Amino acid sequence: MHYFDYKGQELHCEEVSLHQIADEVGTPTYIYSKRTLERHFRAFDEPFSGCDHLICYSVKACSNIAILRLFARLGGGFDIVSAGELHRVLAAGGDPHKVVFSGVGKTEEEMRFALDQGILAFNVESEPELFALDRVARKMGRRAPVALRINPDVDAQTHPYISTGLKSNKFGIAIDHARRLLLEAKNLAGVEIMGIDSHIGSQLTKVEPFVHALERLLLFVDWVNQQGYSIRHLDLGGGLGITYKDETPPHPGEYATALLDVLGDRKLRLVFEPGRVIAGNAAILLTRVVYHKPTEAKNFVIVDGAMNDAIRPALYGAYHAVIPVRTSGGATETVDVVGPICETGDFLARDRELEVSAAGDLLAVMSAGAYGFSMSSNYNSRPRAAEVLVDGDRYAVIRQRETRDDLLRGESIPDWI
Ligand code: LLP
Repeated sequence: MHYFDYKGQELHCEEVSLHQIADEVGTPTYIYSKRTLERHFRAFDEPFSGCDHLICYSVKACSNIAILRLFARLGGGFDIVSAGELHRVLAAGGDPHKVVFSGVGKTEEEMRFALDQGILAFNVESEPELFALDRVARKMGRRAPVALRINPDVDAQTHPYISTGLKSNKFGIAIDHARRLLLEAKNLAGVEIMGIDSHIGSQLTKVEPFVHALERLLLFVDWVNQQGYSIRHLDLGGGLGITYKDETPPHPGEYATALLDVLGDRKLRLVFEPGRVIAGNAAILLTRVVYHKPTEAKNFVIVDGAMNDAIRPALYGAYHAVIPVRTSGGATETVDVVGPICETGDFLARDRELEVSAAGDLLAVMSAGAYGFSMSSNYNSRPRAAEVLVDGDRYAVIRQRETRDDLLRGESIPDWI
């Protein structure tokens, strides 16, 4: 569900015409719908309203501070994976006491920063990380709140690059190992193990892997409590998928019902780390056709957006629908929508049936809100795109398009060259 619709022949975001934004802000531009973002946040939050819970939006999915501010206003917390993301949360006015910190490679400097801010939990992913955190916290005269990230060895049935809950993945701690570690960790003065955490993958389209993981985690929580710990926080990560093409992921309501069934009447505070399901369908990448290039083998539509702006097709073979901003209802042709970057992997869509387009036409790359701008780069020395947030009939630029001078920021030429 989203608020990108045709009014007549013109694609709009909420009440704003995408043509107008292209004319005023230029292209390529990410355009987010505030109404969609808020609706998705609530759709995830409300089914859990009967139990103690916290939605920690996963900052990596889309990390613009205006968007983080929206979720902070809705009472959300944040899932971060770097000190940089914590910096963003603070800049957005997010509450550090609602922040959980995941990631396999937290440095001591990052731990100190997060401890100083008083975050809710460190999702600890290995034995050496636990000991490092204990050392850092003791030196600061603090006790770090810890949720051990368990790798439940469950197949998320998703793209191998974004599957994280198998024992061959780098994430989390295997259950047997976690048992030994917990027995050893009882006397660590710098950490308080108060929670259990897990995240098994991203873009999951079935509820079963989540349910299996939860069943394993609950058995483990029981065991941990029998050892004298008091586990009161259970973080089930993110991962709920969206429809890019013809996937039929469970609605957040179905996901919640399935999990709450397994949970029964346990008194645990549930934490979730959704990213894609909230932001994914809440934005498009607006791009303009530069050339129409028919060749013997293919019709290429060359646009001003590229793999540096939206890398999912190149990196995962991901599908994003591409639709015209002004539809004529005219003839179609099979095309590859490609960018100007010097790589054959630089495509946004391949072998698509699209209305015949000409230089100057605008196209919308759909479902671009999650892992779109946040994974963009300056490859080929391309300034990164602008970001725009639409609210009803008004909009604001929430990130300026980078300039050519921005590309040089921080670079210098030593005087011995
Ligand atoms: N929590 C943790 C610890 C994570 O690693 C992730 C995503 C999330 C939460 C949020 O997952 P979500 O609800 O968005 O599925 N770049 C890839 C996705 C990478 C996901 C990485 N971790 C893509 O474009 O598909």
